[in-house]
Amino acid sequence: MATSATSASRESLRVAVVGHVDHGKSTLVGRLLHDTGSLPQGKVEAIRAMSERRGMPFEWAFLMDALQAERDQGITIDTSQIWFKTPKRDYVIIDAPGHKEFLKNMITGAAASDAALLVIDADEGVKEQSRRHGYLLHLLGVRQVAVAVNKMDLVGYSEKRFAAIEKEYRAYLASIGVTPTYIIPIGARDGQNIVGKADKMAWHGGPHVLEALERFNVVTLPTHLPLRMPVQDVYKFDDRRIIAGRIESGMLKVGDRIVFSPSNKSVRVKTIEAWAAPPPDRASAGQSVGFTVDEQIFVERGEIVSHEANPPVETDVFRARLFWLGRTPLTQAARYKLKLCAAAANVRVQAIERVIDTGDLSSAAATEVKHSAVAEVILQADRMLALDEFVNSPLTGRFVLVDGYDIAGGGIVSMEGYADQRHLITVRASNITRVEHAVSVDARARRNGHQGGVIWLTGLSGSGKSTLSITAERRLFNMGYQVYVLDGDNMRHGLNSDLGFSPDERAENIRRVGEVAALMARAGVVVITAFISPYRSDRERARRAAGGNFHEVYVQADLATCEARDPKGLYRKARAGEIAEFTGISAPYEEPQSPELALDTTRLSIESAVDVLVGYVSERFGVEQVRLTRKAGA
Ligand code: ADX
Repeated sequence: MATSATSASRESLRVAVVGHVDHGKSTLVGRLLHDTGSLPQGKVEAIRAMSERRGMPFEWAFLMDALQAERDQGITIDTSQIWFKTPKRDYVIIDAPGHKEFLKNMITGAAASDAALLVIDADEGVKEQSRRHGYLLHLLGVRQVAVAVNKMDLVGYSEKRFAAIEKEYRAYLASIGVTPTYIIPIGARDGQNIVGKADKMAWHGGPHVLEALERFNVVTLPTHLPLRMPVQDVYKFDDRRIIAGRIESGMLKVGDRIVFSPSNKSVRVKTIEAWAAPPPDRASAGQSVGFTVDEQIFVERGEIVSHEANPPVETDVFRARLFWLGRTPLTQAARYKLKLCAAAANVRVQAIERVIDTGDLSSAAATEVKHSAVAEVILQADRMLALDEFVNSPLTGRFVLVDGYDIAGGGIVSMEGYADQRHLITVRASNITRVEHAVSVDARARRNGHQGGVIWLTGLSGSGKSTLSITAERRLFNMGYQVYVLDGDNMRHGLNSDLGFSPDERAENIRRVGEVAALMARAGVVVITAFISPYRSDRERARRAAGGNFHEVYVQADLATCEARDPKGLYRKARAGEIAEFTGISAPYEEPQSPELALDTTRLSIESAVDVLVGYVSERFGVEQVRLTRKAGA
């Protein structure tokens, strides 16, 4: 075995060997080790002798078991983890013992590999597990894949049988977006096409296994991607604060303007700390570093450092492709602990969108996700998170879910259907101070005879928001209220005419409406808003902007009813594919969890729903109360 000193100067390729348990992974790896001369002297002979003593035929798997045992005890194989070597480089085989352990390691990144070798049994053909592993490689973005069709001896080294398996698996891999670089017929037990050409399969024109591996490249560190450095710790060192972590991608230089997400604090890098003199002026992907900044700021473990120009997404809700390994199924509304890089947060399963059968890739609606299943879910965190879409940044776009103390699942992040909330929570201007009003909110309420506030209607298009709000406005006005309706379609003609219906634009739409409603409420008006406002976090932001006296009203009607009503003919158009991202059809709607009021318009008539709403306002907005105080004060 190579020592760490020599291995440091040599390249090493990390290969994940995956496949169905009985398809011959151990035999293949054993052969690779043996045929490349990487085994300790006398090892094979010892195992052969032992097998004979016990009256069993020799199995390469015994050798692998023995090596694994010694490795676990640290006897023969050193911690540099090299499993075999060629004149070109070292090879690290990643093959966790159990299926479950392996999946866990794949997901958490412990099994991050440059390439994968998928083993399939020629006699049994493609199995559910072969498919699942293929899917996992796809999910995690392993691009260099060689497929070894093993036990060709059992099918008489038949070119025809090989072609059939090749065809089937290629079709499956293609459907999940994986293009295998090589598909190789092998006989691991008798060393056919492992290290050297197979004499029994001269018909095979491609490389043998070792040749294929030698052609793969070590995945280069992502220095070209935007800077991402999760903060592992902040150390106090004399009077300096050193921010420490591993640079996952990109490059960090002294003088760079950086931002911490999700706290959104922005500073300049002052020094990069190192034992070496002179201190370095830059560090890049793969390096663990500590640095200091030019201002005293408070940042915490878990935040992500990036450049200002290319920061991560900030959101408290996202869509995930999830691999579930929990002892109990994942269920809707269940809560778990999310770990994403060094950050942790509590999350709730907002929705299980679909469960994907990795065997035939069909997907179905489901209320739970069982062990070993893949699902698409929506996760809602109890705080703002900094993350990336997996396709843009694999290392900051991957997470695990913890149930109690166990890793129960893991997955990758997508923002499809959801907005980056960064710009909604960032104040761009500096040097601004608030001006205090000389007329108090209370004085205004006394003059109007009622308080100002926000009645926030939310619901699907066609649920009845506009009709309800307009009728209630009329009634309240006649009762003497200062009342005004802000309506989606109306606002989109004016203040929000620059906004469409993408997740980002909807979020901005609601941000503006929330701010306008808050201003009007402070001016003393009862504001009724009628917007779909499909995202929970946007509605919560509107609530915070109002700073009290905010009432969320869920105008409730199921999709089928709204679609049957279709007052503007939009559902029909959406179904015909003429409107993209239509709420309820091709864009999400997140139901309120605990609205102050719910009006089910499938059961209530407009009149009775308005009665409830008007009653609600007159009870809560204190006409009588304020009048009384005014009289008492007068
Ligand atoms: S929100 O999602 O940003 O809150 P908003 O309430 O302002 O939406 O506007 C919704 C109205 O715009 C709907 O009642 C409908 O008349 C119209 N509309 C046009 N395109 C869409 C779409 N893709 N999704 C939803 N509503 C749409």
